[in-house]
Amino acid sequence: MATSFFYSLRFRLIASVVTIEIVMLSLLVWNNITIIHTTHTDRLRDTASSMIQQIANTSGNYMVAVDYATLQDYLGNVMHYQELAYLVILDRDDAPVITLGLAPREARPVIDPHPDSVTDGVFDISSEILVAGQPMGTVLMGFSLSLMEEAIHKSRIRGISIAAAEILLTVVVTVLIGLGLTRRLGVLSNAAQEVGGGNYSVNIPVETADEVGRTATAFNRMVAEVSNRTLKLEEAETRTRQLLTENRQLAQTSLTAQEDERKHLARELHDELGQCITAIRADAKSIRSLSKECDARVDASASAILDVASRIYEVVHSMMQRLRPGVLYDLGLVEALKEEISAWQERNPDTKCIITVSGDLADLGERVNITVYRIVQECLTNITKYAHASRVTVDLSNTEDKLVLKTEDDGKGIDLSIMTDGLGIIGMRERVEALGGEFQLDTGPGKGVSIMVTIPLMNAGNDTIEYI
Ligand SMILES: Nc1ncnc2c1ncn2[C@@H]1O[C@H](COP(=O)(O)OP(=O)(O)OP(=O)(O)O)[C@@H](O)[C@H]1O
Ligand SMILES: [Mg+2]
Repeated sequence: MATSFFYSLRFRLIASVVTIEIVMLSLLVWNNITIIHTTHTDRLRDTASSMIQQIANTSGNYMVAVDYATLQDYLGNVMHYQELAYLVILDRDDAPVITLGLAPREARPVIDPHPDSVTDGVFDISSEILVAGQPMGTVLMGFSLSLMEEAIHKSRIRGISIAAAEILLTVVVTVLIGLGLTRRLGVLSNAAQEVGGGNYSVNIPVETADEVGRTATAFNRMVAEVSNRTLKLEEAETRTRQLLTENRQLAQTSLTAQEDERKHLARELHDELGQCITAIRADAKSIRSLSKECDARVDASASAILDVASRIYEVVHSMMQRLRPGVLYDLGLVEALKEEISAWQERNPDTKCIITVSGDLADLGERVNITVYRIVQECLTNITKYAHASRVTVDLSNTEDKLVLKTEDDGKGIDLSIMTDGLGIIGMRERVEALGGEFQLDTGPGKGVSIMVTIPLMNAGNDTIEYI
């Protein structure tokens, strides 16, 4: 608290003004006193030298006439001069003939060259009394400095009083201006803190049209603008969130429709083509058995039809498996993945693929299951098509209500600066985001491809997808 007071604008303003005032007024007082002192000493020196000169001349005349009584009267009048401390007339043998005022401590005091050099409070001067060039004696005079010092003292007191009054007045005025200024700046600073805290309803009263007033007006305008923009930004954010939610729902609907279409196709293949192929195979078998004894060529043709029908059946069966991974429904996600990977491994014997699973993966829901299954399928297809990898890993784990799938290959990687019109990676991302999850792709030329998918398990996948 105390520290903040010393750093406050109010304190610094007052302290600077008062310090400057004290220094300037001290210089002024010192300057005045020096001038007064010089003026007084010059005046005293001039007065003293002209007085002693006149007294020496007049005294010479009286001494020639040996009229000491008149001389004493004359000098008595001279002694009325306020600053005169003593006046002594010495005869030719240095014997005092007239002594007026306080007699000097010594018979012949040391003569001071200038009032400034006085140390005992009395300015001692002397002058020879000459008549027609003949020495008649000496005048000794002492001028008291007390009057001069009193005048200097009074002037010093007056100067210091005026300075003190001026400092006091300045402090009062500075404090008043400083208080007014810092109070208004304080209002501005508090308002800025309020705005910093998110309160945009702040409005500073504009008291005067000075700099602080203009700052307050500009501040109010700025807050209004910020408030306006923040409002628009919040609206835009809400709209974006809405759009995102709608987008996810749309993606989910479209994926569900895609899965439904695949199921439908698989059913058609199974029911229509599958039945027909089975019928063809049955017919070919009966032709072969009927024609065995008759015609060897018919038998060979029937065998050929049987082989072709069997191959078509395998292809159709494999297509059905891809379209509707029944194993996913029958055995669960982990078994379906293992089966998919082992079938892939058979087709790609040069690439080693390892799957690791951890955590409870039994009841993830069909939506999550199909998402993970399709992503692994697409990753493996891409690796076959592009990677030239020697090793692939698939990690699936359920940790703290999150499902994490990570697939990595050590193949040639993707140069992301090259655009492609493929839909596989986009589809994976869409599937994950439709479940509120995150999709991360980490790759680069020569760095392989790493795909990490995180799906929250709170409410994802509770809905069921109907399997045929
Ligand atoms: N594992 C991988 N290793 C190297 N390149 C890859 C890998 N996976 C994808 N790519 C590159 O990324 C591109 C985009 O892949 P994506 O799966 O999106 O499309 P696609 O496989 O070309 O087509 P679609 O998947 O639509 O049939 C591919 O064309 C390929 O160049
Ligand atoms: Mg692809």
